[in-house]
Amino acid sequence: MSATVLRLKEYKVYYKTFTGIVRAVDGVDLEVRRGEVLGIIGESGCGKSTMVQSLVLPKPPMFIAGGSAKLLGEIDLAKIDSNKRREVLLKNIALIPQYVMDALPAIKKIKVFIKDLAKDKGVEYEELVEKFVERLKLVNLPREVLDMYPIQLSGGMKQRVVISIATLFNPDLLIADEPTSALDVVTQRYVLELLRDLVNQKIAGSLMFITHDIASIRQIADRIATMYAGKIVEVGPLENVVSSPLHPYTAMLIKSVPTVEQSYKATRLSGLAGSPPSLINPPPGCRFHPRCPYAMDVCRREEPPMIEVEKGRFVACWLYAKK
Ligand SMILES: Nc1ncnc2c1ncn2[C@@H]1O[C@H](COP(=O)(O)OP(=O)(O)O)[C@@H](O)[C@H]1O
Ligand code: SF4
Ligand SMILES: [Mg+2]
Repeated sequence: MSATVLRLKEYKVYYKTFTGIVRAVDGVDLEVRRGEVLGIIGESGCGKSTMVQSLVLPKPPMFIAGGSAKLLGEIDLAKIDSNKRREVLLKNIALIPQYVMDALPAIKKIKVFIKDLAKDKGVEYEELVEKFVERLKLVNLPREVLDMYPIQLSGGMKQRVVISIATLFNPDLLIADEPTSALDVVTQRYVLELLRDLVNQKIAGSLMFITHDIASIRQIADRIATMYAGKIVEVGPLENVVSSPLHPYTAMLIKSVPTVEQSYKATRLSGLAGSPPSLINPPPGCRFHPRCPYAMDVCRREEPPMIEVEKGRFVACWLYAKK
């Protein structure tokens, strides 16, 4: 059950720009296990989309700058060629991108897209179409979608079509990048339940769920990882992290969300102060130090190592380093 599906080690993804190198993902260590939902939380601009986009299809100006990303223990996504990448796509790893609007070619009927996909994957079209219709049923869409163009679909429908395609080949790892942020509350809950169900039914071997919204992560994740300025700063089981966050940044994220008991005023007072730093010239030492209420001298000078505070609970913060 706890077999590793994906393991990132010292994983780095940068962008080449006119103003300098953007170190969007800068030495990430992370594991996704079979059967689990791993939630990744962090403010906008922390590198979440870059990290997952690079695993599926890195394209300029993005480039993988170091480390490894091993899928199923052997396929290093940081090093494979484009043929191998095409082979693993959908079969082993699939992404529901942050902007589903761009995920499907607007001028192709859905069934033509499926036909091309069948050819690409070397499977029978009839067989794949039946599987697709099965998936459509799962997400509450009719067979008639096959004869539609993506532009005829609403945002919510397009989202569900993309989920149907992403799960066609039962990927070992399904990644959903902020899948609910453009949806209304009722549809949000539906999509969260659907994604969880896909893992429970083993249609997806595991799920990496990305969000800036702690409330949705609480509904779906088994474990949670906090990302800040290109780095993972805390990892642990959902309940422990939410009830007693170790990293000051995780604590800040959790406190910024209104609970039923909190008054509006209290929420505003504990809201997030400041914003994530530039990733062209990130602050030295701990990247969170300019915003951290506990920052010490060492924090401004040296990067904190990842420390296992108790079994399965990791934090990168000098407050937990043994003297
Ligand atoms: N195409 C690009 N070229 C240059 N920088 C980019 C590009 N896309 C994203 N970035 C930068 O990379 C950093 C991480 O962005 P992103 O991965 O989208 O964060 P998140 O998904 O957490 O909001 C940001 O500083 C962003 O400005
Ligand atoms: S290492 Fe220092 S600055 Fe960074 S989060 Fe911990 S206490 Fe704050
Ligand atoms: Mg993003």
